[in-house]
Amino acid sequence: MEIDYQALFEKSPGLFLVLDPELKIVTVTDAYLAATMTSRESIVSKNIFDVFPDNPNDADADGVNKLKISLQNVISLKVPDNMPIQKYDIKKSEHEFEERYWSPYNLPILDKAGNVTLIIHSVEDVTSIIQSRRLETLQKDENISLNNQNKLKSQEIYEHIRQKDEVNLELKRTNAVLEEKTRLLELSNEDLALFAETAAHDIKAPFRSIGGHLEIIFKKVKNLNDESINQSIESIRKGRERISLLLDDLLTFARVSRSAEGAVKIDLNKLLQEVTANLEYSITEKKAQIRYPHNMPVITGTYFQVLQLFQNLIGNALKFCEDVPVIEVSFADTGTQIEFAIKDNGIGIEKDYFEKIFDPFQRLHGVDAYAGTGLGLAICKRIVDQHGGSIRVSSDKNGTTFYFSLPL
Ligand SMILES: Nc1ncnc2c1ncn2[C@@H]1O[C@H](COP(=O)(O)OP(=O)(O)O)[C@@H](O)[C@H]1O
Ligand SMILES: [Mg+2]
Repeated sequence: MEIDYQALFEKSPGLFLVLDPELKIVTVTDAYLAATMTSRESIVSKNIFDVFPDNPNDADADGVNKLKISLQNVISLKVPDNMPIQKYDIKKSEHEFEERYWSPYNLPILDKAGNVTLIIHSVEDVTSIIQSRRLETLQKDENISLNNQNKLKSQEIYEHIRQKDEVNLELKRTNAVLEEKTRLLELSNEDLALFAETAAHDIKAPFRSIGGHLEIIFKKVKNLNDESINQSIESIRKGRERISLLLDDLLTFARVSRSAEGAVKIDLNKLLQEVTANLEYSITEKKAQIRYPHNMPVITGTYFQVLQLFQNLIGNALKFCEDVPVIEVSFADTGTQIEFAIKDNGIGIEKDYFEKIFDPFQRLHGVDAYAGTGLGLAICKRIVDQHGGSIRVSSDKNGTTFYFSLPL
């Protein structure tokens, strides 16, 4: 039987490449072609480094260099060279390389005279071994760092829990103290409110009596036509008015600061009629328009308080306006409560005062510019608080809107 050595070589299950001393490829096994994704026609008789260049995308690629050195050694020293494992990516397409690790072995074939005629370049593809080993180390590293992280985390968590427990304990203590303080404060607030109410009430009677006597005296001295006396009379009248206003507001403020009085159903249509009747004087004087929907809702509350609330806000809207006041009352039913808005076209309030104006005696203008005690909004706030709602303001140069909520 005649053996076709060429075919036998090509079919042999090893990755072999045969080079001449000029490093041109003489022949190659099918297995080598398969592993390097090349074809016989494209590589045979070409220089090995022309067909197997370094991966240009890999800055560390030095497969070509190492193989060159090894092959030169094999040629000059005429001994085989077992190269260490190389990373030598293979070219898949024009710009694409695939990562490959090789274990190469270069064996010189010598003629009788001892010259190198051929070199067998045999390689073993160890890519999968390297990759799985690399994965293992990666995982090991990751596990170690994960473990460390977990340890740190649990220490942190433990520390957090410990701190939280301490804070909780501290909070509980503080709460207890606060509760006691609040209870005492509520008590004294009630006492103070009662005191203020009684005082204001008790001052009112003698004050009224003084006023009556003063008017009698005024009538008598008026005939004297003394300019300075008349001026003094005017000052006394103004002062009286002011004190009277203060006493009234103080009384209301004290009353709404005390525990809420009995809640009743309040028809806001009727209530607003009463409010406009009470404010009739300034409404007519200023030719003001007060608009509100005909279907104002029925709510539950303390009648005199809710009346006071609407009256104070509409009163302010009338007062703090330099044009013809146009005041709009609107509402929205949220299902659990009703949100009201009272909008005016007045002088507006600067943003810095949006909260301060609800404090007692807080006013933004002198009494000569706009009369008042600065208690109106403080009263409103207390009333809304007593009803479990909230109140706030929004304002710009076009006017002011007060928003407040009341239970249904
Ligand atoms: N509708 C409004 N437009 C502009 N400023 C207002 C309005 N309502 C309240 N203010 C400002 O808030 C201050 C406090 O209001 P309030 O407590 O009712 O006091 P008073 O009406 O007695 O001055 C007022 O002095 C005024 O400066
Ligand atoms: Mg007011």
